[in-house]
Amino acid sequence: MELFKVIKTRRSIRAYIKRAVPVSKIKKIIEAGLLAPSSKNSQPWNFIVIENKKVIEQLAELLINSLNTEAEPSDPTTGKIKKGYKSSIKASGGIIKESPIIIVIENTCPFSGGRRKVRLSKFSNAINGHDSEFVSLGAAIQNMSLAAHDLGLSSVIICDAIAEEEKIKKLLKLKGDLVAILPIGYPAYKAKPKTVNSSGKVRFIK
Ligand SMILES: Cc1cc2nc3c(=O)[nH]c(=O)nc-3n(C[C@H](O)[C@H](O)[C@H](O)COP(=O)(O)O)c2cc1C
Repeated sequence: MELFKVIKTRRSIRAYIKRAVPVSKIKKIIEAGLLAPSSKNSQPWNFIVIENKKVIEQLAELLINSLNTEAEPSDPTTGKIKKGYKSSIKASGGIIKESPIIIVIENTCPFSGGRRKVRLSKFSNAINGHDSEFVSLGAAIQNMSLAAHDLGLSSVIICDAIAEEEKIKKLLKLKGDLVAILPIGYPAYKAKPKTVNSSGKVRFIK
């Protein structure tokens, strides 16, 4: 597909048909992730491709059975969950459970040393390296999701997985931070292209 058409027609798809995803397509998707730009070319990622049904289910169950209610966006001054957000952790676990393949995205934390270190740091600029790691990781994840769509596949970025980060890290033997999980499969339904909301979001300075 032409690039702009890929961008315009991509949607998050949360259910997939039971059809195996060819290895050649997965390799292309991973290559797209590896080709992403990154701050100081740090390439702060590891991609763990999981096809093993048992491991996918084990991981999904961690989210389905999650008792963590603190994972939604919260107000940094009060620590309280922002109004209007309700937990989608269990639903996200359900999506993962039925996926033929998932890619786990790990931050190798070359600048920040990881979330825990940033949280505990007494220096306000400790967040800077972490921010650039995350922008780089976002570029890689979006490259992969667009590549999947171009190959006739669908995906959805799942950050809810962070709610059970420690358990998932242990299960997959991750050393860095868990960033997101990208389930991939042939779509079980079609979603309409998005309507663009640009109101108040774009400003030109001429
Ligand atoms: C950083 C990020 C985290 C997300 N986490 C989740 C998630 O945990 N579970 C889920 O179902 N969707 C998740 N999504 C998908 C969003 O809900 C989706 O992108 C949004 O509703 C817009 O829909 P679209 O992707 O079809 O344009 C996430 C998307 C992004 C970019």
